[in-house]
Amino acid sequence: MSAPQKRRRESRFPGSLFALYFVTLLLMSGIHMGLVTLINENHWPTAVQILIPVFYWGLVAGALTLFTRYKIVKTYDQPMKELAKAAKKVAHGDFSVYIPPLHTTNRHDYLDQMFLDFNKMVAELGSIETMRTDFIANVSHEIKTPLAAIQNYTQLLRRPGLTKEEQENYISAILSSTRRLSSLVTNILKLNKLESQQIVPHDEPYDLCAQLSECAMSFESVWEEKGIEFEADIEDRATIYGDASLLELVWNNLLSNAFKFTEPGGTVTLYQTSDETHVTVSVSDTGCGISKEAQRHIFDKFYQGDTSHATEGNGLGLALALRVLQLMNATIQVDSLEGQGTTFTVKIPTDQTNEGKQMT
Ligand SMILES: Nc1ncnc2c1ncn2[C@@H]1O[C@H](COP(=O)(O)OP(=O)(O)OP(=O)(O)O)[C@@H](O)[C@H]1O
Ligand SMILES: [Mg+2]
Repeated sequence: MSAPQKRRRESRFPGSLFALYFVTLLLMSGIHMGLVTLINENHWPTAVQILIPVFYWGLVAGALTLFTRYKIVKTYDQPMKELAKAAKKVAHGDFSVYIPPLHTTNRHDYLDQMFLDFNKMVAELGSIETMRTDFIANVSHEIKTPLAAIQNYTQLLRRPGLTKEEQENYISAILSSTRRLSSLVTNILKLNKLESQQIVPHDEPYDLCAQLSECAMSFESVWEEKGIEFEADIEDRATIYGDASLLELVWNNLLSNAFKFTEPGGTVTLYQTSDETHVTVSVSDTGCGISKEAQRHIFDKFYQGDTSHATEGNGLGLALALRVLQLMNATIQVDSLEGQGTTFTVKIPTDQTNEGKQMT
């Protein structure tokens, strides 16, 4: 039996209340006996002999009724009224409500436990509400920026006498904003589906090394254009059991971040290794690095630490990556030094490689 249950059972027979009743009843009986002796000694009429004890015990019963009522009001009615008042406030959207427990921690009964659970529930509801409003504010902001750009460039396009080159520039700017909008919507939908578990991973065995090579190669034009050196050190083959399309999101985002936050002349390294328990993939760069404070937020939705690259994404990539990896019981770790570079390390357990469909 757990400690709180034991305490609750003890409170069903409160010793102090028993002692109080016991002493009071003894005292009352004593007074009753005193009254009977007085009546017998004085030879009062029979009616008085009957009425005095009846009146006396009536008084005692009345006092006990009032005392019991007071106890019930204090122990149950008042806390219940307080709970009802708090619940009403929450129903009207006030999530700052807090009901203090009635007893100290070591004397908690089930009412205290109920209050604590209620407080916890209200705090949860409050944080969901904050997240919802933050989310709407973030989405609105992310949509407004490219929309404003589209509007501006479209107006510029209407100006007479534009050169072919100017037209081309404005059209590319519009296209880039529409791409940004489209990727924002796609990422939000994906994240939403992942969080509401509408996406069930379709796990199957596949070669992780081939996938990593493919993802890396899709960034060839980026590293060539930016003058970044790219190095890869991966095994020939590592078969894992997982959802390839979901994991592709992870590698693409880690690589895109590495190239995005590394200056020309820097290096990006893709490293993959495996042992009996895990496949490990790491993406390192010699870029701007992430401050300790920012590291605590990079997996939050819409968080963008480095504002100079804010237009090149929506801050959803790592939130998506984390959700995907959580679904696969995998972990992601960041090691970074400001001004020196960053390494993201992903560890995928091999014990979920479906009964022996282990990596080879
Ligand atoms: N390799 C890195 N070097 C430096 N900062 C990084 C790196 N990877 C992530 N960050 C920081 O973490 C933030 C969040 O990254 P995340 O991938 O979630 O968003 P994003 O790349 O800005 O946008 P999106 O991925 O939606 O295109 C980035 O804005 C950046 O500040
Ligand atoms: Mg990103």
